[in-house]
Amino acid sequence: MKHFQLDYNNMMAAAIGQKDGMPAGAIHKDKALIAAARAKVLENRGKGWQEWTELPFVDKAYIEELTETGRLIRRKFDNFVVFGIGGSALGPLAVANALLHLRHNELRPGKRKGPRFYVEDNVDPERMSALLDIIDPADTMFNVITKSGETGETLSQLLFVLDILDKALGDKAKENIVVTTTVGKGTLYNIAVERGYKVYGLGKGVGGRFSVLSPVGLLPFAALGLNLKKLLRGAADMSKACCKTGVRFNPALMGAYLQYHSIKRGKNISVMMPYADSLKFMSDFYCQIWGESLGKAADNSGKTVYAGQTPVKALGVTDQHSQIQLYTEGPFDKVITFIGVRNFRAEVKIPAVKGAGGAAFLQNHTFNELINAEREATAFALVKAKRPNFTVLLDGVDEYTVGQLLMFMMYQTAFAGALLDVDTYNQPGVEEGKLATFAMLGRPGYEEKLKEIKSAYHNEKFIVD
Ligand code: PA5
Repeated sequence: MKHFQLDYNNMMAAAIGQKDGMPAGAIHKDKALIAAARAKVLENRGKGWQEWTELPFVDKAYIEELTETGRLIRRKFDNFVVFGIGGSALGPLAVANALLHLRHNELRPGKRKGPRFYVEDNVDPERMSALLDIIDPADTMFNVITKSGETGETLSQLLFVLDILDKALGDKAKENIVVTTTVGKGTLYNIAVERGYKVYGLGKGVGGRFSVLSPVGLLPFAALGLNLKKLLRGAADMSKACCKTGVRFNPALMGAYLQYHSIKRGKNISVMMPYADSLKFMSDFYCQIWGESLGKAADNSGKTVYAGQTPVKALGVTDQHSQIQLYTEGPFDKVITFIGVRNFRAEVKIPAVKGAGGAAFLQNHTFNELINAEREATAFALVKAKRPNFTVLLDGVDEYTVGQLLMFMMYQTAFAGALLDVDTYNQPGVEEGKLATFAMLGRPGYEEKLKEIKSAYHNEKFIVD
């Protein structure tokens, strides 16, 4: 496995003091709890909602079919648009942004690895109409992704584009749509069968936020010319590391325990701060998986616990000049995770120029040195202010290391859910909003829900208008 380092020195009492740091004996004291959490996750690999653990180990033939489909899409289409939301969008967004050229969509076609790529995960009317100003639907492959096949946002986007494609292409429109959903049930599946769209199936036990290594992500990645085998190899190798018994050898178990220990001491905010623009949307991926999986009202025995840790996204170095002030001097309620990159894909020197004056100290260094020095300097400033932080250090950013990082985040979340004793895989809070939307838009069968919503609005007199 390529080097993947988890440096947690700055979490320890030796670095930041007894009050906010982890005593050296904490792991030993909690060893039974850690072992039970590990066992709970690993004994259920591939079972129930934990089918995601097996995604890196799929058949070679399946990957080859996806790769070939991706090649055909690349040959035929100028644009690839994902319609999806939450777990059906954030994985594709995070990985594509990590692995494509940072200005992918702006490159000329010959210079681009694949079609221009858009993930449309909102129903803002201005955004929907703006999309049509930059793509020609006839030259676009639309990948409609929803596990449930019922999500209103995604279905509305489908209807929006179907109308356009039907008018422009008639029967041939079906070549421009590919569907990723649960086979055999749901509105999207029924529409796909009726209209003859190609369908990629999602495993029953793969939940949205754990689905990036299923066709939810793999189909877009194949269309973009990314190396699926390498991505899955990175994920598989990380998966093996996450099965190790000793917490000191198991990065995700250690990451989960560090966070758990902090939560128990009032650190209710988890900041994710990569120091690489390519990893900016990994923070969005993290915020969803961490927030939606751990934020639960009740624990597994039904006791009210209001568990969870609020995830916050930040980007180094940009947010050093905004949020870091709060992190170093504000409330003692945060843990900061840095993601560092050892080897960037470009090396850019800061040149020596005549008359550099006070800027001369920067000359002949590289931006590579600068960004990593700033990461270490920020960690130092946090330690000085007694704020817990740890660093995930990647060798570089490529398919393999991105596979490692995704699997690390998924296992870290699963172990944290087990430590907190909550149901990592449900999302009743999200479902409630979905159902209320159906009711408000008049979906048959939701009449009672509409009455409930109307009766909840009794505070009209407290509106400032
Ligand atoms: O993680 C989850 O389960 C959610 O965030 C879903 O991905 C999101 O609500 C979209 O659901 P669906 O894929 O069914 O459209």
